[in-house]
Amino acid sequence: NMSKALLGKKALVTAGPTYEPIDPVRFLGNYSSGRQGYAIAESLRDAGVDVTLVSGPVALSPPDNIYLVPVQTAQEMLDACLEILPVDIAVMTAAVADWRAKTVATKKIKKTGGAETPSFELTINPDILATISQNESCRPKLVIGFAAETNDLLENAESKRKRKNCDWIVMNDVSPATKIMGGVENEVTILSSSGKQHFKRADKKEIGRLLTKEIIEFFNH
Ligand code: C5P
Repeated sequence: NMSKALLGKKALVTAGPTYEPIDPVRFLGNYSSGRQGYAIAESLRDAGVDVTLVSGPVALSPPDNIYLVPVQTAQEMLDACLEILPVDIAVMTAAVADWRAKTVATKKIKKTGGAETPSFELTINPDILATISQNESCRPKLVIGFAAETNDLLENAESKRKRKNCDWIVMNDVSPATKIMGGVENEVTILSSSGKQHFKRADKKEIGRLLTKEIIEFFNH
């Protein structure tokens, strides 16, 4: 990419799932592969951006020339992100667990031998995107959130964009039949205050390059 619009800019990208411990051997998690976030981080790097990638547990190799901060939990992801500010661009692709166990058992929870099942009290995790987006003193110039939805995509995504105060929401349908979550392809629509733009189904790397082009456009204007 020959554009110099992003040369020397700083970006924070979050990717992957978070793992929220229940006891020393169990966690709450999700099927996020981290592929879309890694692809965006790599295409921003290729456009000359200084990228920090805060990643939950994934099976992907660390990309070259990207500062990788591996984390497990949402709280660790938030702390890592806040340390990286200020940045010019924040792209929050991580599938952050909405809840975590209120208390983490220090010993493995045992079967009782009977039919009883354990129950867990959950508590809400911090919203990393909203925290960064609503931070008035050092809000990135461009904050991009994702909306993985299975229903009422447009309404959910647009209300999320407003509620979380982000500039763009990249919306996708993660119904199991789409094979998007955990898969290699994606099909997205970018929502902004000026409308929506659909990108046809493509490899997540290609979606990363298309999104980078849009980011270049944003900084060119
Ligand atoms: O509310 P929801 O999880 O659907 O929002 C998705 C967007 O918010 C994604 O960009 C995701 O990375 C971000 N998010 C976050 N921290 C959370 C929950 C979501 O950064 N705790």
